Amino acid sequence: MTKTILITGAGSGIGRDAAFALAARGHRVLASTQTQAQADALRAEAGTRGVALEVCKLDITDAADRAQVLGWPVDVLINNAGMGESGSLAEVDMARIRQVFEVNVFGTLALTQLALRGMIERHTGTVLFVSSIAGRLPMPFLMPYSMTKFALSAAAAGLREEMDQLGKGVQIAVIEPGAIHTGFNQQMTERKYAWMDEKSYFYGQAEAMKAKEKRTFAFLEARSTDSIVAKIVQASEAARPRLRYVAPWAQGVMVRLARILGV
Ligand SMILES: NC(=O)c1ccc[n+]([C@@H]2O[C@H](COP(=O)([O-])OP(=O)(O)OC[C@H]3O[C@@H](n4cnc5c(N)ncnc54)[C@H](OP(=O)(O)O)[C@@H]3O)[C@@H](O)[C@H]2O)c1
Repeated sequence: MTKTILITGAGSGIGRDAAFALAARGHRVLASTQTQAQADALRAEAGTRGVALEVCKLDITDAADRAQVLGWPVDVLINNAGMGESGSLAEVDMARIRQVFEVNVFGTLALTQLALRGMIERHTGTVLFVSSIAGRLPMPFLMPYSMTKFALSAAAAGLREEMDQLGKGVQIAVIEPGAIHTGFNQQMTERKYAWMDEKSYFYGQAEAMKAKEKRTFAFLEARSTDSIVAKIVQASEAARPRLRYVAPWAQGVMVRLARILGV
């Protein structure tokens, strides 16, 4: 059965690849992007590839942009849009922490509440939250981001029980990608070096940290989004999705082990 699927942050990376994969399976995909320039580029790419994508600008922190969802018959909302932020919690500016929560948690939740109205009224719908394995394991120096993903994973689990209790057929699930090479991790880790000066507690360690981050992501990152896109497709199409979908598989196992060992 084909569905109407709204995906946020579809201008790049996992969101863009998931939008194309879902459209290829015959779904009506509303691919939304943060900026109009991204929307124009995505529309042009869809045209070149001969894929039927409906594209619009939807900055999830903008109330007027979010309100568009009230006019759309969304069967599946994929909350994929997100930003990264890094630095030690001992010193990172509170404004940076607020900003990343504004996008990853508050914007996501505000859009979800609007989409839920129609879903609850129609007694059907699925909301997917793209969280992260950083929402299952605390990641030092990525904590501004990691905290938002802990919040999102917890929100999804709680909302799932609330929707089950309401009994209107609305499904909630969490997508937890491991490290995937989209450029997101590099941008996120770099952000702290824009403000870490000699006053930073970690200034003397900055060069070693940079080198370690480079090695870690070169080792960990999956080169393609295929495994997580397959999970997004699976969860979008399921009548009763599982609570969590993790990919790549090996990183999911690592997280489980780390949690068992109490890391
Ligand atoms: N790649 C990974 O290793 C990884 C791992 C775990 C989880 N994730 C999660 O997966 C999701 C997609 O990430 P990705 O790796 O595909 O990186 P990405 O290419 O940077 O995708 C994130 C998208 O969200 C957009 N976005 C940011 N703020 C927005 C806003 N206010 N409104 C609408 N869109 C907004 C970004 O637009 P701009 O380009 O304009 O900023 C970008 O297109 C994110 O939620 C991320 O946290 C990624």
